Amino acid sequence: MPPSTLVRSEHDVLVIGGGVAGLTLALHVAGTRRVTLVRPASDDQGASRWAQGGIAAVLSPQDDFDAHVADTLVAGDGLCDERAVRFTVEQGPSAIEWLLSLGVPFTRDTSPTANYPYHLTREGGHGARRIIHAEDATGRAVLDTLKHHAQTHPDITIRDDLVAIGLLADAQQRCRGARCLDSRGQLQELVAGDTVLATGGASGIYRHTTSPHPASGEGMMMAAELGAELMNLEFQQFHPTCLYDPDGPPFLISEAVRGEGGRLLSTDGRRFMLELDERAELAPRDIVARAIDAEMQRTGSPHVWLDVTHLGDEAIRHHFPTIHAHCLKRGLDITRQPIPVVPAAHYSCGGVATDLDGGSSVPHLYAIGEVACTGLHGANRMASNSLLECLVYARSCAAKLATQRGPTTPPTASTQPGAGVVEVRHVQQWRTALRDIMSRYVAIVRRDAGLDTASHELSELSREVQAAFESAAPNTALASLWHAVRLARLTVLAARQRRESRGLHFNPDCPPHTETGLAPRPSRLHLDDLFA
Ligand code: SIN
Repeated sequence: MPPSTLVRSEHDVLVIGGGVAGLTLALHVAGTRRVTLVRPASDDQGASRWAQGGIAAVLSPQDDFDAHVADTLVAGDGLCDERAVRFTVEQGPSAIEWLLSLGVPFTRDTSPTANYPYHLTREGGHGARRIIHAEDATGRAVLDTLKHHAQTHPDITIRDDLVAIGLLADAQQRCRGARCLDSRGQLQELVAGDTVLATGGASGIYRHTTSPHPASGEGMMMAAELGAELMNLEFQQFHPTCLYDPDGPPFLISEAVRGEGGRLLSTDGRRFMLELDERAELAPRDIVARAIDAEMQRTGSPHVWLDVTHLGDEAIRHHFPTIHAHCLKRGLDITRQPIPVVPAAHYSCGGVATDLDGGSSVPHLYAIGEVACTGLHGANRMASNSLLECLVYARSCAAKLATQRGPTTPPTASTQPGAGVVEVRHVQQWRTALRDIMSRYVAIVRRDAGLDTASHELSELSREVQAAFESAAPNTALASLWHAVRLARLTVLAARQRRESRGLHFNPDCPPHTETGLAPRPSRLHLDDLFA
C-alpha cells in the first residue's frame, strides 16, 4: 500500500477489543469522553462468551470478603498480589449491581430458603457458594447485554471493520493509538489520547483450546513492542474439562458441573480425585488438570469421564441447558452417559503488568481483562474470578481515564510496510508448527529438556516468520502469527527461568516452591529479553 493512501483519524479514548472488559470500559467512559471501540466480529466468539460458569463475588450474607480473598490466595499458590486480590474482591458486589441494573438475566433462586435472590453456584477452590450465573451461559448473557447498550450509546463508535496490528507512539514513547487493517487490507492509523487493550489472552498458541477463536497474545506483544513489561507468562491455565470431541468444535464443560456434584472418573472407573486432594473435584484447576493428565498417561486413553448421571434428569436440564443441548447435538445424552473430557488451554494468568487502574508501564497505554496481569491470579486463577477481574478493572480504569486527557503530540512515523505476498498455506503451516511445539513441550507438565527444545525450534520458526512479516504487505493473519511466535518465545523464557514448580508451572526437574525456601517472585520480561 503506497504511503499516500494511509488513512489517519483522531480519537479520544481508543479501546481495542470488545469482550466483557472492553465493553464495560467503553460504557463507563462514555459520558465523560468519546470512545472508539475496535471490535472485530470475531470478538463475539472470544473468551468472554465461553466463560460459562459465572462471576465470583461476595453476595450471600453467609459469605465475606476475607473468605473470598483467602480462597483466591490459596488457588494462586502463594504468588498473588494480596493488594490486587482485596481490591478486586471488595469491588465485586458493586460490579454485579451494575450488571443487574443493565438487565443481565442472572438465574434467580426461587427456593423458599434462599438468602439471596439469585442462585449462587460453586466451583473449584471456592469454600462457599459465591458464583452468580445466567444458567450455564453467563459469558454470553453478559456480553449480549453489554453489546446492546454499547451499540446504542451516542458516545461510543464501534469499528467492526478494523483489526489492530500494532500501536503508535510519540517521540517520548507515550502510546498514541493503534495501527489497524481494514477489511480491504488497507492500513489505518487511529491516533488517540488514551489507548486501552482488552484483546484477551494467549491460549491460541496451543493446539487444543476451550474457545473456538482464542487470542494468541497479540495485545501483549503490541504493548511489549512499545516497551511495556510482561509478567507471569509461564502460568498458562488448562481448563480441566473440555468436551473430548475430535470431530466437533471446542466446547467447554463448565466447572459449575463439578460444583453441582459432577464426578471425574478414569476410563477404568476410578474416582481418582478422591485419592489426591481432600477437595476432590473442587480442588483448584491446576491440581485437577494435572491429575487428569496423569490419568490419561496412565491408562493411555485420550480422555477421562465426567459423570453427572446421578444428579438426575431434571437437575441436569435445569442447571446445564446449554451443555445438555450441545452434547445431545453431538450424539451424547449426558443424563444417561458420562461425558468424555480432556484439559485444554483456557486462560493466560500472565500478561501486560498493570496497576489497580489498568495502567501499564507505558504512559497512556492501559490493559484490562485477560491481556493484563494485575497480580490477582498469581500462579493459578481461581474459577470465575476472570469475568470479575474484567469488570472491576474496566471500571477502575474508566474512573482514571475520566480524570485526564491524553497528549496531543504526533505519533512517530511507522516503518514502511512491505509489498510482497505470503501464501496463506504457509501462514497456516507456521501456526500449526507453533501450536505443536507449545502443546508438546510447554503444556501442563514441562521439563528443562523440552523447554530447551521448544526454545530452539521457536527461534528457527521465528526467523522464517519474521522474514515473511517484514517483506509482505500487511495482513492480519501474518501479524497475529508474528505476535504469537514472539509471545511463545517469551513464555518459554519465563518457564525456563522459574526454578521451582508452582501453580500452573509444573516442572519435575524443579522442586515444589515449598521446598526451595525462596520468596515468591513474579516473573517480569520485556521484548528485549529475547535478544539478551
Ligand atoms: C467455566 O465455566 O468453567 C469457565 C469459567 C472460568 O474460566 O472461570
